[in-house]
Amino acid sequence: MQITRPDLIVLTPLFVLFVLKFSFKYREMEIMIEIGNNWGKIIEILHKGKKSNRFFSIATVDDQGNPHVTPIGHVFFRDDSTGYYFDAFSKAMPKNFETNKRICLMAVNSSTLYWLKSLFLGSFQTSPAVRVFGEVSEPREATEEEISRLKESIKITSRLKGHELLWSDLTRVRDMKFTSFSPATYPEMCEGLW
Ligand SMILES: Cc1cc2nc3c(=O)[nH]c(=O)nc-3n(C[C@H](O)[C@H](O)[C@H](O)COP(=O)(O)O)c2cc1C
Repeated sequence: MQITRPDLIVLTPLFVLFVLKFSFKYREMEIMIEIGNNWGKIIEILHKGKKSNRFFSIATVDDQGNPHVTPIGHVFFRDDSTGYYFDAFSKAMPKNFETNKRICLMAVNSSTLYWLKSLFLGSFQTSPAVRVFGEVSEPREATEEEISRLKESIKITSRLKGHELLWSDLTRVRDMKFTSFSPATYPEMCEGLW
């Protein structure tokens, strides 16, 4: 089959449109990816973030559209892209949930050993940070199982003065359901991770 000049005039813009559409789609995918089968990998990074920092950053939006970030330590995850956090002190976040229950939770692996190893190798073996996007439920009383999971996670400090002051009121939780995620990436050193 021979491609004639009029064919080219029609086909070239169509080809350009196709490439543009595909590249925009790809960029969208890079920003927010459906969780799908990635939860196992995501949860690994979330746990590494918790271990190295002791807290997660949870972003919300107020009724004027202003962003807000709250540090929350007592977050637990389940195997089905859900989790819950103990909600005791936060004021702005529950207010924001009255108009918008969407959240973005971020975990960063700040372990010194992990960073030194990655710098030495010139590549990250797991993502340095991940953001998960979802929605929270209304607050509810924590179950006995959730309270004992919490107590187990903080038992090492149980004899210290601040332990009672900080954590005796942690009895209420909010459930979180995540639907998409976005790893924080660097060029080259993060290649091939997802
Ligand atoms: C490292 C860290 C961990 C925290 N973890 C929790 C938590 O698990 N639950 C909670 O209710 N408050 C927790 N807080 C306290 C809230 O972050 C704090 O009250 C904050 O000011 C609430 O912000 P907001 O009212 O703007 O949402 C934590 C604070 C820090 C610094």
